[in-house]
Amino acid sequence: MLIFLWAEGNQGVIGQNGRLPWHLPADMHFFKTVTTGNTILAGSRTYASFGRPLPNRQNIVITHQDRTNFPAEVIVLDSIDAVRQYAATHRQDKLFVVGGAQIFEALLPDVDQLYRTVIDADFAGDTWMPAINYSQFKLTATQPGVRNEKNPYDYRFEQYQRLTSK
Ligand SMILES: NC(=O)c1ccc[n+]([C@@H]2O[C@H](COP(=O)([O-])OP(=O)(O)OC[C@H]3O[C@@H](n4cnc5c(N)ncnc54)[C@H](OP(=O)(O)O)[C@@H]3O)[C@@H](O)[C@H]2O)c1
Repeated sequence: MLIFLWAEGNQGVIGQNGRLPWHLPADMHFFKTVTTGNTILAGSRTYASFGRPLPNRQNIVITHQDRTNFPAEVIVLDSIDAVRQYAATHRQDKLFVVGGAQIFEALLPDVDQLYRTVIDADFAGDTWMPAINYSQFKLTATQPGVRNEKNPYDYRFEQYQRLTSK
């Protein structure tokens, strides 16, 4: 099961200078809750933004770099085909594709579910979510986020299931 997990601001912005454009601890908490005990797959730029393998989940990085550049516990895959092979042999696992834009774009034909956090605010950015044809997906859940001092935006958590066959 391949699942995209991301947060986007207005116009679908997802990144700025190799980082997230916002600080939204409630979304970081959501990310941790849904991915812990499962597998995350990240492009090397997104992986670098974590600063270390994220604990209590299998980390997979997609890169052309030598695997010796990464800690031993990280699985290093060198192509999208290698990701597809990994997914095919781990069908029972929840594989969370956590970006960035290059990886989302490449795996769009393969994704089964979408976990999207929508932040209703404008942010400066240099990286955007690739266009998704939402008519191919059904919205199965939506949950408003709590706005407070630490999370000073309107935001919501959405989940989609693919409708059409891939
Ligand atoms: N808002 C969100 O939810 C969210 C989620 C994720 C990321 N982001 C943000 O998005 C930005 C990073 O996104 P990005 O698109 O620039 O980078 P990215 O997708 O994270 O990483 C790109 C790198 O992945 C590797 N790669 C890509 N395609 C490959 C392939 N076919 N085979 C092997 N390796 C491949 C390459 O690594 P090498 O150069 O090492 O070969 C490439 O430089 C950051 O600002 C990050 O904070 C936001």
